[in-house]
Amino acid sequence: MKICVIGTGYVGLVSGACFADLGNVVWCVDKDNQKIEMLNNNQMPIFEPGLKEIVSSNYDAGRLIFTTNLGLAIKSSDIIFICVGTPTSKKKNSANLRHVFSVATTIRKNIDKYKIIVTKSTVPVSTGDKIEKIISKKVKRKLFQVVSNPEFLREGEALRDFRFPDRIVVGSNDKKASKKLKNLYEPLVKKGANFFITTRRGAELIKYASNAFLATKISYMNEIANLCEKTGVNVEEVAIGMGLDKRIGSRFLRAGTAYGGSCFPKDTKAITVIGDKYKTNLSIIKSVIKSNEKRKTLLMDKVKKILSNKIKNKKVAFLGVTFKPNTDDMRQSSSLKMIPFLQRKGAIIYYYDPSGEKKEFAKLKNVLFCRDISSVCKGVDLIIIHTEWEEFKALDFAKLSKRKKFKIYDMRNLYSPNLMKQKGFNYYSIGR
Ligand code: UDX
Repeated sequence: MKICVIGTGYVGLVSGACFADLGNVVWCVDKDNQKIEMLNNNQMPIFEPGLKEIVSSNYDAGRLIFTTNLGLAIKSSDIIFICVGTPTSKKKNSANLRHVFSVATTIRKNIDKYKIIVTKSTVPVSTGDKIEKIISKKVKRKLFQVVSNPEFLREGEALRDFRFPDRIVVGSNDKKASKKLKNLYEPLVKKGANFFITTRRGAELIKYASNAFLATKISYMNEIANLCEKTGVNVEEVAIGMGLDKRIGSRFLRAGTAYGGSCFPKDTKAITVIGDKYKTNLSIIKSVIKSNEKRKTLLMDKVKKILSNKIKNKKVAFLGVTFKPNTDDMRQSSSLKMIPFLQRKGAIIYYYDPSGEKKEFAKLKNVLFCRDISSVCKGVDLIIIHTEWEEFKALDFAKLSKRKKFKIYDMRNLYSPNLMKQKGFNYYSIGR
């Protein structure tokens, strides 16, 4: 099939490359000329394991075309995926849909034959209706269908999540369009993916409800971890015991810093705004948002205690600052609150992240990027393991820091408390 993907961010570029890898011809469009130039020179605008290989092989095979010419791409395609950003709007907590609606207007101008328009961006319930209204102002209804097909891609595992999804959700009120999407995803369904068709609004809500539930699961475990610390219980054992119940499931029960990323914080806020709009108070999700935000301060209070309330002039090393491993994404990462907090208290912060230096800390005095693990740990008072990158999982701490009395705060529970104690380390972790 001939597909147009609008937006070459985490969702658009991964989806476009994977659709091409299934044998389709895909026009990937972005209004950012620089991004399109990079892609035409085989440089990736985002950090996603395996993406460069799949993009270049399909680009070389002529199945991937990168362009800023949205009109041409729409005219050359049968299915048009809207994958533009829907960031949290500054004023309220709702999703900002201006990119979605501006793309819908351009689509309207370029529909010359039957097209299926698919919202893959995460959009509030009833956005599909609004897109349909925009297009039908100038285009006959029989010439287009608007369907919802939300993505469930995790950063750092996006290719795997696309190729082996638990489920493909399509929200469509039209049989012909549903059939077309089913054909498009057939190769994945053949490999065992569930294909679930619901109404358009149903699919829009499934996305938000899923992300809000996962965020709730994480915050729930983070609060249980707080109780574990007070009662001398190991939260990982609680997670195992709970997860053996198929109704709970063993994934997303890892207590940690606070959830971050571009989705959970944005989507939890957006769904509560949708709830308020429809006079339905989503009080549980509202409390999750508060709990997650409060957690960052709570962990900083713990750092204060670990440093016996003397933060000024203390040297603190951060191992990892991204919101999760295998990504360079800093959006809503808990380090964005933790590092400035400690810096304001007079600490000297060194940080190392495999994805490189962060512009977010560039202007902060006494916050320095180090190029490797050994330099970031040299002579520090406290090592904080913030992100569970693979290379932090088997460190020889004794060798890493000359000062014997350094402490370790393992915010991702990468090490065993007993083993660390046996080795004589001053070791702290989460919920254990
Ligand atoms: C999430 C959803 O998983 C994905 O389905 C959706 O499409 C986009 O949002 P992502 O934000 O990329 O994906 O990463 P994810 O792996 O879900 O982690 C989100 C945050 O939760 C990270 O900060 C991570 O550290 C945290 N997390 C995750 C935990 O603290 N504990 C866990 O057990 C799992």
